[in-house]
Amino acid sequence: MTDSVTIRRPDDWHLHFRDGDVMRGVVPYTARQFARAIVMPNLTPPITTAAMAADYRDRILAAMPDGVDFEPLMVCYLTDDTDADDLVCGAEEGVFTAAKLYPANATTNSAHGVTNVRGIYPVLERMQEAGVVFCVHGEVTTPDIDVFDREAEFIERYLRDIVANFPDLKVVFEHITTRDAVEFVLESGPNVGATITPQHLHINRNAMLVGGMQPHNYCLPVAKREEHRLELRKAATSGNPKFFLGTDSAPHFRGDKESSCGCAGIFGAPYALESYLTVFDEEDAIEQFEGFASLHGPAFYGLPVNEHKVTLERMRVEVPDELALAGSTIVPWHGGQSIGWKFVG
Ligand code: NCD
Ligand code: ZN
Repeated sequence: MTDSVTIRRPDDWHLHFRDGDVMRGVVPYTARQFARAIVMPNLTPPITTAAMAADYRDRILAAMPDGVDFEPLMVCYLTDDTDADDLVCGAEEGVFTAAKLYPANATTNSAHGVTNVRGIYPVLERMQEAGVVFCVHGEVTTPDIDVFDREAEFIERYLRDIVANFPDLKVVFEHITTRDAVEFVLESGPNVGATITPQHLHINRNAMLVGGMQPHNYCLPVAKREEHRLELRKAATSGNPKFFLGTDSAPHFRGDKESSCGCAGIFGAPYALESYLTVFDEEDAIEQFEGFASLHGPAFYGLPVNEHKVTLERMRVEVPDELALAGSTIVPWHGGQSIGWKFVG
């Protein structure tokens, strides 16, 4: 039995740092395990210009603990009015690594998102030319579509058309939750990849709805049926370079989740690698862990792999029920449970 796993330092290809005190509280958790992260731009107001992204990056770097080497990779929040010149210029200056499509009202802070996906095709054209990665929250938001079908429907309504029209655009289908998404990514060319979160590998929708409402298992896209979770586990542990790590760690205070209108999002950062490695271990695929966590993402983004290494050891770790943060508390992913791996640095 493998009791110790050492891999190149991984990156998180989908992460929410927030801003202000919450950001200062969560940054150390990610910087402890990861070398870089794709930082989501859904702040209030959203990060829509290169100047805003450069300022936000400075605030993140100022929040880094001393001596920590961490690189935030910034993302432009696409709107109906995105200025393609500013986006491409920002990418050329090294501010933007990617741009993100939030369909309007799909998730937390997406009210300014895109209302007409085909309306941003001129921007996608420029991104394709300039080599800016396109990150997609792939859910339709029209009320006629059941919440459990939103991802599959997005593929048919939008994603096939985008991929057909922009064959050289690098597209990340983010936080995929369905067999449909796995199949779409597999049948697409090498420019189409996907991130997978720890929660979607661990839980199906029962974890959210059986035995009482479980707000700490609620995130978007929502977890689906068991058959979908099993497909995601297969994809993540397959060694296929199209699939890579993106926690979608999305901190919300405990009170904002345990409320009559609870927020979507799971704070996965504190025990992220332990959580993923548990899945690879259960699937008897520890040898594929480094690819998923540390190699496939940089290859897709055209960035160098990290030089340093990290180690996890087989050991029972009790995950606290909650963490004190920014004068309040946040429940971490796996809160109150024990987990079989320990990150040792
Ligand atoms: C994210 C958040 O809280 O910002 N929530 C979530 O459930 N994943 C937004 C997102 O990525 O959808
Ligand atoms: Zn997210």
